[in-house]
Amino acid sequence: MDRISIVGGKPLNGSLAISGAKNAALPLMIASLLTSERLTLKNVPNLADVNTLARILRNHGVDLAVDGKRSEPSPYLGETFHLTARDIVDTTAPYEMVARMRASFWVLGPLLARCGEARVSMPGGCAIGTRPVDLHLMAMKALGAEIDIDGGYVVARAPHGLKGARITFPKVSVGATHSALMAASLAKGETLIENAAREPEIGDVAECLTKMGARIEGIGTSTLRVAGASRLEGAVHTVLPDRIETGTYAFAVAAAGGDVELRGARKSLLDTALITLEKTGVAIAETPHGIRVSRNGRDLEPITIETQPYPGFPTDLQAQLMALMTRAKGTSTIRETIFENRFMHVQELARLGADIQLQGDTATIRGVKSLRGAQVMATDLRASVSLVIAGLMAEGRTTINRVYHLDRGFERLEQKLSGCGAEIERLVSG
Ligand code: UD1
Repeated sequence: MDRISIVGGKPLNGSLAISGAKNAALPLMIASLLTSERLTLKNVPNLADVNTLARILRNHGVDLAVDGKRSEPSPYLGETFHLTARDIVDTTAPYEMVARMRASFWVLGPLLARCGEARVSMPGGCAIGTRPVDLHLMAMKALGAEIDIDGGYVVARAPHGLKGARITFPKVSVGATHSALMAASLAKGETLIENAAREPEIGDVAECLTKMGARIEGIGTSTLRVAGASRLEGAVHTVLPDRIETGTYAFAVAAAGGDVELRGARKSLLDTALITLEKTGVAIAETPHGIRVSRNGRDLEPITIETQPYPGFPTDLQAQLMALMTRAKGTSTIRETIFENRFMHVQELARLGADIQLQGDTATIRGVKSLRGAQVMATDLRASVSLVIAGLMAEGRTTINRVYHLDRGFERLEQKLSGCGAEIERLVSG
């Protein structure tokens, strides 16, 4: 397995490009199952999760052509995917594929809406809590599906098609909102989705579904009203910039010090995270091409925060913030309210000398004067990148093992950081 090696203490300067959002690209690719026509997606990031999903979709019969291969001078410009699901040849999403990535479970709604049946393995993905699928199933049942669980598979049937309904989620779920929205777009009649997640990636998918012929009101709010169409059409859509990647690099600049422009980043997608970063003493400015982040010599102020669904502070940036706060001048408190087990990075940060106490869902981080490089282990996607941030601050060499987690969600991380002056390299195994 590949490793990443970082020698800390080098400031970051210059600019780096932000890729298309993984968490939008995945559901947008899945939306291709809703139509027999071509869906063209631009600015798709080149990530392991995208490739895994591509394999799953091909298995269902989706034809995928890729063009727009990267070339200088825009090495990070995303690829263009042309997805055509003319015929769905298989409505089963097998365990071997779904177990690799949780979001692949989201094919359930579109398959059911288009074919009247689906058999989808219960998901796997990052081990950051139990992560049930009850809300997805609740939404499909509300739309008229019969659901059985058989041998680890969700078997869903709607022989006469899905019918519009009122779906009131008891808890905010990004995935269940995607599922409900995509299925409702091809259901008969009107669906009201209440307590919907408001993440920008849901808005991006809703806009794409609108181009495909669905009528959706309330985009960006927690109440979505969907007038289902009897058939959806092809469309062309550009994936929005990745706000989690943006936040991660903003935190990396804060950690290492320096001055970097994040090209293609959109500030409005991550206001809470950037305001939090400003409170630590980091300067943020909008530029014509993105966002500029700078910290020159100032101490980092401690922070008290809890993760929340959008527009709150994102759970996907919790580990990165924690890494940064290990060097703050004082004591920070971070409460994780979305996933109950999303603290696996804590023991790895401790290996670098961080002082973090965990009590239930709350971490108390006492800033230390220095971190020291060590061998650490990547445990999940966002935890892995928090170790990169810590490595940038640490004295000496940090080696991160099991970096395949990083490759699931961060495109060309080493190149982007080394282009700004970081001493970081991939040690390829074998
Ligand atoms: C998505 C994101 C992930 C992010 C998370 C929360 C993608 C591909 N992934 O994951 O990066 O960390 O949102 O912002 O977009 N839950 C249930 N029952 C369900 C579904 C979820 O109880 O049926 C719970 C989960 O266990 C969790 C909470 O709801 O505690 C939120 O999860 P959810 O928003 O569904 O996360 P994902 O969509 O899996």
